Amino acid sequence: MKISVIGAGNVGATCARVLALKDAASEIILLDIVKGMAEGKALDIWQSAPIDRFNARVKGVTNDYNATEDSTVVVITSGIPRKPGMSRDDLINTNADIVKKVTENVMKHSPCTTIIVVSNPLDVMTYQAYLTSGLPRTRVMGMAGVLDAGRYRAFLADELNISPKDIQALLMGGHGDTMVPLPRYTTVHGIPVTELVTKETLNAIIERTKFGGGELVKLMGTSAWYAPGSAAARMAEAITRNQKRLLPVCVKLEGEYGINDTFVGIPVVLGRNGVERIIELKLNNEEKGLLQKSANSVKELMDILDKMRSRTPQIKGSA
Ligand SMILES: NC(=O)c1ccc[n+]([C@@H]2O[C@H](COP(=O)([O-])OP(=O)(O)OC[C@H]3O[C@@H](n4cnc5c(N)ncnc54)[C@H](O)[C@@H]3O)[C@@H](O)[C@H]2O)c1
Repeated sequence: MKISVIGAGNVGATCARVLALKDAASEIILLDIVKGMAEGKALDIWQSAPIDRFNARVKGVTNDYNATEDSTVVVITSGIPRKPGMSRDDLINTNADIVKKVTENVMKHSPCTTIIVVSNPLDVMTYQAYLTSGLPRTRVMGMAGVLDAGRYRAFLADELNISPKDIQALLMGGHGDTMVPLPRYTTVHGIPVTELVTKETLNAIIERTKFGGGELVKLMGTSAWYAPGSAAARMAEAITRNQKRLLPVCVKLEGEYGINDTFVGIPVVLGRNGVERIIELKLNNEEKGLLQKSANSVKELMDILDKMRSRTPQIKGSA
């Protein structure tokens, strides 16, 4: 069993390390275009194996996709964060090009893999990987909901002074401020959270979660990596270990929740076959409206990518 992580930057290297700590696969490949970086970080992680007591062999390569041959899961973290003065379209253009090239290389060596996209803008980069790979929608997904739900649960744990392990929460929709909170499905060991915090406090926590990425950018001058790396690793492990975990994941909807051909975060069951089941919750009208709004804003970004793909032959995919 092999997991390849493309991009050995902050998120990619963290993801590889968490995967190793979990022994989520016997081999973990870290790949980057910057010479020596993936090799160095992989060697550093591997040298922690005797200390942290894991067996997974961690290997780094510079742009050598032969090493990724027959990966069960590929996590794509390559891409640049938005820089000052950069428009949203510029970011989509740059990262779509990177994700396309990476996906093409991945597919040459692992035609039956499952892809987890992390690169931003998340929902539209997942769409790009889907179009380029030609894989079924069950095998191309994006990581956002696990991270957003993690942030939400951490803030609730602080507020309630309760272990984060005892807090269960589901979020839906796009990554970031169009995220759809579901307080009805937030419980503390089965106790509805609404019985433990006031509506005002819960709303404040939800707002903080929506802008959780921005809060960290403000503090660090760059985007987060520990929780994002762990979240992607959690998804990859659910697949390699066939855990049937119910997690919020960005997938292409084909009529579920009344939404078509749009990549949206929803609860799914993750196992050896990728997205094995889509869970359709009975949303109330307010929740339905928020989800549709979130899907509409993702669709706008997908349309930008579609226009770019039709204008620019070099970013035209295979599917
Ligand atoms: N989905 C989420 O919730 C979430 C959370 C955090 C970050 N992100 C996104 O993840 C991406 C990575 O973030 P980061 O903090 O690790 O950035 P980073 O700059 O630390 O790392 C990105 C790495 O990608 C590499 N890279 C660029 N082009 C490549 C290519 N063609 N092939 C292989 N490697 C290539 C770079 O050399 C770099 O090492 C960004 O797009 C960021 O916005 C998403």
